Amino acid sequence: ELPEPGTVPLPVPPVLEPRSTDGGEDYYVITQRPGKMEILPGLTSDVWGYEGVFPGPTIVSRTGRRTVVEHRNELPVPVAVHLHGAKTAPQHDGYPTDLVLPAAGWDGGLPGGDVSEGSRVYEYPMDQPAATLWYHDHRMDFTGPQVYRGLAGFHIVHDDEEEALPLPRGERDVPLMICDRAFGENGELLYPALSSDLAGEPGVENRYMSGVLGDAILVNGAPWPYMEVAAVRYRLRLLNASNARRYDLALDPPPARGDAFTQVGSDGGLLGAPLGHEHIEIAPAERFDVVVDFSGYGAGDEVVLANRFGEGGTAEVMRFRVTGPAEDDSEIPPTLSDFRPLTRGEAGRTQRVRFAREARNPHGAGPNMWTINGEVFDPESDGIEVPEGSTEIWRVTTNVHHPVHLHLVRFQVLSRNGGDPGPYDAGWKDTVDLGSEEEAEIIATFSGEPGKYVYHCHNLEHEDMMMMANFRVV
Ligand code: C2O
Ligand code: CU
Repeated sequence: ELPEPGTVPLPVPPVLEPRSTDGGEDYYVITQRPGKMEILPGLTSDVWGYEGVFPGPTIVSRTGRRTVVEHRNELPVPVAVHLHGAKTAPQHDGYPTDLVLPAAGWDGGLPGGDVSEGSRVYEYPMDQPAATLWYHDHRMDFTGPQVYRGLAGFHIVHDDEEEALPLPRGERDVPLMICDRAFGENGELLYPALSSDLAGEPGVENRYMSGVLGDAILVNGAPWPYMEVAAVRYRLRLLNASNARRYDLALDPPPARGDAFTQVGSDGGLLGAPLGHEHIEIAPAERFDVVVDFSGYGAGDEVVLANRFGEGGTAEVMRFRVTGPAEDDSEIPPTLSDFRPLTRGEAGRTQRVRFAREARNPHGAGPNMWTINGEVFDPESDGIEVPEGSTEIWRVTTNVHHPVHLHLVRFQVLSRNGGDPGPYDAGWKDTVDLGSEEEAEIIATFSGEPGKYVYHCHNLEHEDMMMMANFRVV
């Protein structure tokens, strides 16, 4: 039985305490292990979680201060940890074959790569501005089912520029991880994996080719939760952590005055100036950092965060219950950050990148595969070579809907379908949401440690069905 919307309180994932804070770095330890959680009231769900919980604990970092996370693997399968949106050296980026094997041992197959046994230390220089990042599993061929079981958490970065702003803070700055899941009768998470122990054949049946959807919407791991809010401004850090579902978020009823959402940040950090939205389309892996002003509502009002792309249960995400007036000294300043648009003239060259399903498996027999420039993922391939520090335009095209994500860099959207960027393309992005037969030009400066990184579709079933490729910083 799924609960009635608005009956379960919104949980906020706890902030993880560092094990040590010596010198210029914070050192964290996370144990990935099976856990039992009451997601649906009265039922127990088995999850795989960072620290055994879903979502995992939130890590809070400061720009310029090194964060080191030691991940211990007490799960029965290999893992790889990717800090999505982070600028890291390649060996710390959670490359899909750089696996951390189970501490208890592993006798299943291995795709090669830089394998560690039982644990691995990931270093993050945090050479990037304030932003809402998230960490999640990235195991080759099995990212979809492993994230679905719970391997995802927030990693929030603060800096001085952001802290000087009068935006809502403390309990009025709330991360919201939105995802969909399907449950069995006893509360078990249902995922149509070909090998249920995730040790054998990867992938899902062909009918899930376009991605796995659930009929329950969770926010921070709770089904259609409610949150009590005062009639003041709140900063909501929206993350779509779903495997494949896109949402069109709106407030129902909309506020009596002003925009429903004032966007202050995107995937990679603060916008230059606030941007109003009546509704927000958000694809897997995207983040929208928004301020909602509840002062347009009265005490006792219930405001639904609706999903206009959904129907039935999936048409609703969560509810806000307005308690009443309160002090509010927050503001949305007209200038948020010193954001510099990249220009066409700075780019050295243009790459063409096509995300499409091939009519046949380019590697011979077998099912159709999702490909990039006609190729399925090959960890050994060199991929696109990009000189360190160079600025490039990538012209990305699609056949059907694909949220396209690049590791290492933050990019800007220069154009969409030959015209201006869309309403959800503002600021520093690391994931761009492309619909059927769409084209976007993105521009990025590839600065970072030399080595191999991936870019891929963030529909996790597409990613597992090989819609991933390398680029190499040289
Ligand atoms: Cu959030 Cu390579 O992914
Ligand atoms: Cu895709």
